[in-house]
Amino acid sequence: MWLMLPARSSIFRCTTLLCRRTAPFSTSIFAAAARRQKGRQPEEHEDKWNYNRSSLFNSSSTNEDSTKFKLVTANDLERFTHPPRSVKMLVRDFIEDSLYNPNYGYFSKQATIFDWDKRPVEFSAIRDSAEFDAVVTERYAAYEVEKQLWHTPTELFKPWYGEAIAQCLVSEYLLKYFPYEDFVIYEIGAGNGTLAMNILDFLRRHYPSVYDRTRYTIIEISENLVQKQRQKLRRSHPGVNVIHKSIFHWDSREPAPCFFLAMEVVNTTEKAVLKQDNFAHDVVRYDLDTLQPYQGYITIDSEGEFDTMYTQLDDPLIGSFLDLRQKLGHPLPISRLFRNFPMARRLYRNLPFAANLSKEEYIPTRLLNLLRTLRNHFPRHRLLLSDFCSLSNTIPGVNAPVVQTRVQNTMVACETILVHQGAFDIFFPTNFEHLRDIYECILSQPSTQPTQYPESQLIPDPIPDRSTPLAPSVNSITLGANFFSSHQSPSLNRRNPLDGVFSASGLPVGERMSSVFKHSEFLETYADLSRTVLRNGENPMLDFYKNVKFLF
Ligand SMILES: C[S@@+](CC[C@H](N)C(=O)[O-])C[C@H]1O[C@@H](n2cnc3c(N)ncnc32)[C@H](O)[C@@H]1O
Repeated sequence: MWLMLPARSSIFRCTTLLCRRTAPFSTSIFAAAARRQKGRQPEEHEDKWNYNRSSLFNSSSTNEDSTKFKLVTANDLERFTHPPRSVKMLVRDFIEDSLYNPNYGYFSKQATIFDWDKRPVEFSAIRDSAEFDAVVTERYAAYEVEKQLWHTPTELFKPWYGEAIAQCLVSEYLLKYFPYEDFVIYEIGAGNGTLAMNILDFLRRHYPSVYDRTRYTIIEISENLVQKQRQKLRRSHPGVNVIHKSIFHWDSREPAPCFFLAMEVVNTTEKAVLKQDNFAHDVVRYDLDTLQPYQGYITIDSEGEFDTMYTQLDDPLIGSFLDLRQKLGHPLPISRLFRNFPMARRLYRNLPFAANLSKEEYIPTRLLNLLRTLRNHFPRHRLLLSDFCSLSNTIPGVNAPVVQTRVQNTMVACETILVHQGAFDIFFPTNFEHLRDIYECILSQPSTQPTQYPESQLIPDPIPDRSTPLAPSVNSITLGANFFSSHQSPSLNRRNPLDGVFSASGLPVGERMSSVFKHSEFLETYADLSRTVLRNGENPMLDFYKNVKFLF
């Protein structure tokens, strides 16, 4: 039970926890029972940490009142050289601090991205997928054993995966913008810089006139990776601009039409391939009496012990996510019976040991931040985002993450998020259908202009040229040019035109709405699959990523 989890849960404690199955409601169950014993009902607006603390399983050895701990954010902790004590923070801040703190964050010190070095795999020389696995394992073994290693499809299938992405982007660019606009690409989280390299090499080789008009910018949070990307791209593509910044701190405006790439992390364990979205999430739970949401905090006492507590909703970001969900009609993560029949909830709540709060639900608040940043700072962007749509070995909860680390060359997953900051990777699956709805809803709202852009950050708005209709005879796209427009009628498939923003042709036709595609659909359309076929006909570039999706 995770309230019992010792605070300084190290890798090794976590390993021992593996064999236990957590009861998600454990904290609430015992607290509810204790409350009933005392004959006390909670005040209507009482915060929920009281419910959740159990006198039977109080993990804190210090008896401190965690409600009095200082509230901090991941930004506040950036200058800390060691994980903080006697603080509380929202779950997204805890995750961000654990992963990205410049001094002890997991990404800052632990993670390396698998790199085939200069030798792309010769797929046609490999017999079958078992031999392909063996080749990957052999090269993988060359890395330091205690480091977490990402396997990304970009790296595993380079340059063919990157070329598929390039083909997709250039098809869209030729169709809509060439020759009236530059080809502007932003990539967040560029890892080793391999995707950028493969895209630009491909453009230079196959579309030299497009290459000459390409402007490629990387936005990267990790200083190590920024160095790596600059080093890798400097000689071949000196025009690439690598900006060391988190996308969440982005504050300049790109008025030109642009493509925005968010190609997440992929991670292989022995056999499985995992893909991860490390954008931090928050946790909410619903009061089963009132269905009011409560927001989760993680508390860390003076001895470094972890705990969780829930308070009434007052965080604006969590609030807007829940509002959006309500507006879109996405259901609460509570059974239909409980949602629709208060009597059923009341009956349940009267059972001995019944939980007072619903299961933890992890909500993608940072993803919401990203979508707003896109709307506000990249008003004419087209997003290409790929990620994992489900994961195994997640911790308990709804939309819960995998929390894992590598111990002596073996991936170890654990059952709680309350783990030592910096030692574990924490990554979430993405519900692509919900993401698409949220994305389209956000783009349909008017852009807010939160920032007075400094002079230096203003890129002049191009004057829309209404006299240059897009040439109907765009050629050079033999592969998949119509793929994304074939399913729906144009009227259903278009966003409302952005205020004052015209297409390259000068017509306010609006942008095409995004759609969700399976990994295989995307690659069958844009990749040269013959390059990754094994001798027995298997194609690992398709087969390895069955539970990955694209939003485009
Ligand atoms: C695994 S890598 C992506 C790999 C790369 N896209 C590929 O396909 O090989 C995840 C990347 O996202 C970066 N990242 C994570 N959060 C970020 C943020 N908020 N802003 C910018 N970069 C971020 C990480 O530093 C890392 O480079």
